[in-house]
Amino acid sequence: MTTHYSDFRSDTVTRPTDKMRRAMAEAVVGDDVLGDDPTVLELERRAAETMGKEAALFCPSGTMANAIAVKMWTSALEEVIVEERSHIYNMESTHMTFISGVTPRPVRSDRGAMDPKDVAAAVRKPNVHTPQTTLICLENTHNNWGGAVIPLENFQAIRKIADENGLKVHLDGARIFNASVASGVPVNEYAREVDSLQFCLSKGLSAPVGSLLAANRERIEFGRRLRKALGGGMRQVGVLAAPGLIALTEMVDRLKDDHIRAKTLARGISGLPGIKIDPGTVETDILIFGFDHPSISVAAMLERMKAKGILALAVSGGIRMVTHKDVGDEDVDRAIKAFRDILLP
Ligand SMILES: Cc1ncc(COP(=O)(O)O)c(C=O)c1O
Repeated sequence: MTTHYSDFRSDTVTRPTDKMRRAMAEAVVGDDVLGDDPTVLELERRAAETMGKEAALFCPSGTMANAIAVKMWTSALEEVIVEERSHIYNMESTHMTFISGVTPRPVRSDRGAMDPKDVAAAVRKPNVHTPQTTLICLENTHNNWGGAVIPLENFQAIRKIADENGLKVHLDGARIFNASVASGVPVNEYAREVDSLQFCLSKGLSAPVGSLLAANRERIEFGRRLRKALGGGMRQVGVLAAPGLIALTEMVDRLKDDHIRAKTLARGISGLPGIKIDPGTVETDILIFGFDHPSISVAAMLERMKAKGILALAVSGGIRMVTHKDVGDEDVDRAIKAFRDILLP
């Protein structure tokens, strides 16, 4: 019977490193709601500096950071342009309508990169009948497009449209460091093209909790009030900021290993019966591929892989696997072997 699973469900399953756990135990803390937790202040300062923004706000989750961003840039009766498969639109429990009272306007894309012409066409002109467009949301890397990297030129073109129409731009950069490592574009160059961005410490960077929202000082101070209103004001939270600081300063470079492993996995399973994947499309840590087999359903396939010690997730019509710190070369070999054992006669 298998006791150890190779867990490819997500990069959110990463466990904190020993150094992170020690940093948690030793963190100097204060009451962050009163503004005097030195470890949180240091994390927020480093995050703002890294992104080239005036200020940053430590949030419990990426979802809360995105929700605060939408709320801080919009008012009632307004509309937000989103990519149609984006996380903020599909997977954050409707906070745009629930919290901000704005409507999302989904736009199609080519692997997560919206055509600037389509974005321009989706901007509504002021009219008594319609919501007013005020914000555009981008996502990089793009989760539901299999970790696709959105090119910097696409950011620049969309920034231009935003400026022409007086709109703000927010980036869901949950995995912006994956984008940067894969493309060679520094994170602050993506950040320069947007008014705000959030990034997650708790995905490939392996911290247990936390996301940073970065923007100008005035909006971040307003965001701090919104965070409190949403129940996200935390007290001696330096214990969580301490591993976050290690994530931000020491865990970025290793993301390239995750990207190499994701490509190895894609090459290892492409061409097997039922699997539809073009390894050339795998750019970062996420693989999303179609699975269409005459006698094995996606659910049955996942069960059979689990019996062989491999965990993956079902997505519409296929399977999602993500590489991260806690799956190494031996886990990738094990996964490829499991696929072959199940699918080859
Ligand atoms: C692209 C993207 N944005 C935002 C989030 C939300 O982050 P959290 O799970 O911390 O709320 C996720 C989570 O997977 C994500 O993949």
